[in-house]
Amino acid sequence: MRVVEVERAGGPEVLRVVERDRPAPLPTEVLVRVHAAGVNPVDWKTRSGSGMAPVLGAPPFVVGWDVAGVVEEVGRGVTRFAAGDEVYGMPWFPREAGAYAEYLTAPSRQLASRPAALDHVHAAALPLAGLTAWQALVDTAGIEPGARVLVHAAAGGVGHLAVQIAKAHGAHVLGTARADKHDFLRELGVDEPIDYTSTDFAEVAGEVDVVLDLIGSEDYGLRSLAVLADGGLLIQVPSGAGERVAEEGRRQGRRVTGILVEPDGYALGELAALADAGRLRVEVERTLPLAEAGRAHELGEQGRTRGKLVLTTGA
Ligand SMILES: NC(=O)c1ccc[n+]([C@@H]2O[C@H](COP(=O)([O-])OP(=O)(O)OC[C@H]3O[C@@H](n4cnc5c(N)ncnc54)[C@H](OP(=O)(O)O)[C@@H]3O)[C@@H](O)[C@H]2O)c1
Repeated sequence: MRVVEVERAGGPEVLRVVERDRPAPLPTEVLVRVHAAGVNPVDWKTRSGSGMAPVLGAPPFVVGWDVAGVVEEVGRGVTRFAAGDEVYGMPWFPREAGAYAEYLTAPSRQLASRPAALDHVHAAALPLAGLTAWQALVDTAGIEPGARVLVHAAAGGVGHLAVQIAKAHGAHVLGTARADKHDFLRELGVDEPIDYTSTDFAEVAGEVDVVLDLIGSEDYGLRSLAVLADGGLLIQVPSGAGERVAEEGRRQGRRVTGILVEPDGYALGELAALADAGRLRVEVERTLPLAEAGRAHELGEQGRTRGKLVLTTGA
């Protein structure tokens, strides 16, 4: 099978298409014929030596965690899927999943049935970003109807899904993005789009109950603390956001937390149900063939993506 290997830490040029043996599923695992693999910032961070590179160890390794495809074979003990089933998920994270490939194996309960409303490309764009948003807003913040939620980078991969998950839970949503993306934000349900290039969100947001910070800089963190209502929660999604914000939060009596997404078959089912109910639209800005993974990373690293980038295997 073809895989895209990271041959050493470096820029997009270190991604190489190579041939590897097809893996075999162990007991409780399934072998998936990959149709599409979602691209996430952790992919290029890991490629360049940060992100999950310390977990994966020395290259060569295969990045990519988001997958949609068809079950080819099941290992002993698997009861939820059979050959021919269409599945999606974010298996193994933060260990190596190797989604930039024609096949992968995964624990069956880290996958879910592909939502009927989404084709393989859109299903592959959903797991990592959608699970991050779900685990942050639903599991961690426990948002309730009427909550005021501010999402930074609301037009990106995690942000555009977070906005819709918050709306589906009855929240009032504020979201930051450049002005040219505000129509998109409104279509997703954002009540108050904020152009961060011309407006300081801290001056216009009023009090909010939850800030989902997908930028994660010290500046965004400190300004986000300033808009939190009593009992409010700041969730800093990018890692390495810095101790100073947490310290300042403690000083102000504000709750601050980080988060690292986890494989979660149950929440995948919840996301699928939202998609099938027409309440979760997955935006894919562009698809590229697997062999152009390096180009996908170049595009993604510019930080302007609307929704997601997805690789296709030609399956
Ligand atoms: N901890 C975890 O488990 C976890 C999980 C998922 C993601 N993450 C991290 O979370 C971050 C976001 O991930 P993502 O997949 O959503 O990234 P993404 O899709 O690459 O984000 C792109 C978006 O960021 C927006 N943006 C850039 N600078 C901005 C700013 N200063 N203010 C507001 N929006 C801005 C862009 O909109 P404009 O063009 O309008 O600026 C663009 O739409 C990454 O650092 C990623 O590694 C962490």
